[in-house]
Amino acid sequence: MVTIKSKREIELMKEACKVVALTYQELEKRIKPGMTTWELDQIAEKTMRSLGAIPAEKGYNIGIKGVPPYPATLCVSINDEVIHGIPSKNKVIREGDIVSIDTVALKNGFNGDAARTFIVGKTSKEAERLVQVTKQAFFEGIKFAKPGYRIGDVSHRIGEYVRSQGYSVVREFQGHGIGREMHEDPGIPNYGKAGRGIRLEPGMTLAIEPMVIQGKPNILQLDDGWTIITEDGSLAAHYENTILITEKEPEILTIL
Ligand code: MF3
Ligand code: CO
Repeated sequence: MVTIKSKREIELMKEACKVVALTYQELEKRIKPGMTTWELDQIAEKTMRSLGAIPAEKGYNIGIKGVPPYPATLCVSINDEVIHGIPSKNKVIREGDIVSIDTVALKNGFNGDAARTFIVGKTSKEAERLVQVTKQAFFEGIKFAKPGYRIGDVSHRIGEYVRSQGYSVVREFQGHGIGREMHEDPGIPNYGKAGRGIRLEPGMTLAIEPMVIQGKPNILQLDDGWTIITEDGSLAAHYENTILITEKEPEILTIL
């Protein structure tokens, strides 16, 4: 069921989303070569809690048999890791890495969800372009995130833009509605046919999240039950914001 948020609910959504934006400001300042992904996770958890929010990914159950609840505040996925990398004291961030981070804050019963890919120090031109294209894919998609268009128009634009840049989108994971639940209807694939799917209406809150691979679209899941990597070992990037559909242009709630 697609939920339309009331004025009051939108205010609460904005608060949760602001926590996510502030958490990324802090992470962007503090991410450095030599740090572990566990240290990043600690920073994020402290930041969120200090802002009156709960890390919503911690303990999250994706609902697949045999997959344990997610153990951390952040998903941290480095280089050929696409999404859902689990923070670890053994995992050190190095100069030149591209580090995709995804996190969700729960505040006053509402969720805010965003992802960023950070470039650590200096990296290759190709890695830089991948990160830039992934971010731009989000902004291309939301050109259609308004009344008069359908979900398929957003999906189609993201997929076509990424393809035009010579990259692949991940097909097994998608964006989603968001609100009291982290994942609500509708699902928002990063590819698809224009003109299909539900119509967009004011009051919908959506997490739009291109996951882009430099090489082939195929992915693998590691034995930890979570980490998704590219099959061909090429790089991947992720960029996501929670947005609000309005009468006119969408509002991006997870950017300050
Ligand atoms: N935040 C992710 C998303 O963008 C969900 C990650 S699964 C979790 O939808 F278990 F880590 F929460
Ligand atoms: Co999401």
